[in-house]
Amino acid sequence: MKYNLLGEDMSIINLSNFVPYELKIDVEKSQIIKADNIPLNFSIRKLFDIKEVIYDQKWIENQKKNIDLYFMYRDFTRKEDKYLFDQYSIRFDITIIPPKSLGKEFNKTAGHFHPDAKIGHSYPEVYEVMSGKGIYLLQKESKDEKLIEILIIKAKTGDQILIPPGYGHITINPTKNKLLVMNNLVSSKFNSIYEPIKTKKGAAYFLLKNGKWIRNLEYSKEIIIKKAKPNRITDKPFYLAFLKNPEQWIFLNEPWIKNDW
Ligand SMILES: [Fe+2]
Repeated sequence: MKYNLLGEDMSIINLSNFVPYELKIDVEKSQIIKADNIPLNFSIRKLFDIKEVIYDQKWIENQKKNIDLYFMYRDFTRKEDKYLFDQYSIRFDITIIPPKSLGKEFNKTAGHFHPDAKIGHSYPEVYEVMSGKGIYLLQKESKDEKLIEILIIKAKTGDQILIPPGYGHITINPTKNKLLVMNNLVSSKFNSIYEPIKTKKGAAYFLLKNGKWIRNLEYSKEIIIKKAKPNRITDKPFYLAFLKNPEQWIFLNEPWIKNDW
């Protein structure tokens, strides 16, 4: 075990302030080790699952080991809260992205879009950083299909990030030694669409470990990059905010009721 100057165990991250139960993460394993009565089931995204979207193709060609990239805990709610989440068709997920090097790039998620809830209104999503730092890259083609808008959002512990309808999104852990732990609230009514980003071999830009953003040449359209700030979506951590007022999250299934995106 490693201890800091305050005598706290550094090999465990305690995230109990984000949820109504004791939540602990083992840093070494990048996995949840304690979460009340919730089964600790997770799925792993592995290196070869996302090989197409990695910038450093020379590096990936030489990799023999299909390493674990990140860990996904889907529908991570207590038994007693399950009914409420199900009633509103909303899922609470936790994702743990350890610091890793993917050749010249930082560790990142595969990236995906969401389908439409109703024609012209795709499902939105909200993310919350529970520990570490994350960079969220959001991208969307303009209505006239002439250009692509990219939003880059840098987030730290406690920050909340809104993914408005229509934006594909990837999350990057831009650190060399810090676990990124995040949660999200999202509609449970759809499956994500991975194909567009996979076909284009990644998002429209790649963030390299040297801090440079490199354009993905598979995209030929004009690209506009905007820096955006995390949003303060709600005063409380998402899980607690949902239990207190689930009505506040209806927009996740009915995005048309919200017009101030
Ligand atoms: Fe998503």
